[in-house]
Amino acid sequence: MISIIVAVAENYAIGKKGDLLCHMPADLKHFKEITSGKTVMMGERTFFSLPKHPLPNRRNIVLTDVKGKTFEGAEAVYSIEEMVNAVKGEEEAFVIGGGMVYRQAMEIADKLYITHIHHSWEDADTFFPEIKESEWKLLSAERHEADEKNPYAYTYAEYGRR
Ligand SMILES: NC(=O)c1ccc[n+]([C@@H]2O[C@H](COP(=O)([O-])OP(=O)(O)OC[C@H]3O[C@@H](n4cnc5c(N)ncnc54)[C@H](OP(=O)(O)O)[C@@H]3O)[C@@H](O)[C@H]2O)c1
Repeated sequence: MISIIVAVAENYAIGKKGDLLCHMPADLKHFKEITSGKTVMMGERTFFSLPKHPLPNRRNIVLTDVKGKTFEGAEAVYSIEEMVNAVKGEEEAFVIGGGMVYRQAMEIADKLYITHIHHSWEDADTFFPEIKESEWKLLSAERHEADEKNPYAYTYAEYGRR
């Protein structure tokens, strides 16, 4: 099964100038809990945007168009089909970004782990595709308020394909 995990603003923004929109330690912890011990798959830009790459305690797979390109500590794949084949038989593998890869992965994912950040960034340059009601069913939602470490209120939501 292939799942998507992402933090999305109210205007569907997910990134700006190659970086995340805000620092939310609670969400980083949530991401780590869900993905640890599993496979994480990402675009080349997201891989290099990680403060520490590869992500530890996870099998890292990086998508690139540049045939023959390699990544230290990660496996390279050169198409979405190859990415899907690489995790065949795994119970759950995660697509972790970024915008370009999410857009393609939305067609094949079975489940979405969305952290809805209750704020909008009008100056963002990377966006998540629309989560259509007709395609995705809300399975659970857990709201948390902002606190001294996490500047915005947020909701952990899980969606399954209808
Ligand atoms: N909010 C969140 O949860 C979250 C999570 C992750 C990332 N982000 C943000 O998203 C932004 C990065 O996203 P992005 O859209 O710019 O880049 P990206 O999706 O991380 O990476 C794009 C690259 O992936 C490769 N690629 C994509 N589709 C491919 C395909 N079908 N076949 C082969 N290679 C493929 C290409 O690499 P080559 O150029 O090497 O060919 C492409 O340039 C950053 O701002 C990051 O902080 C946010």
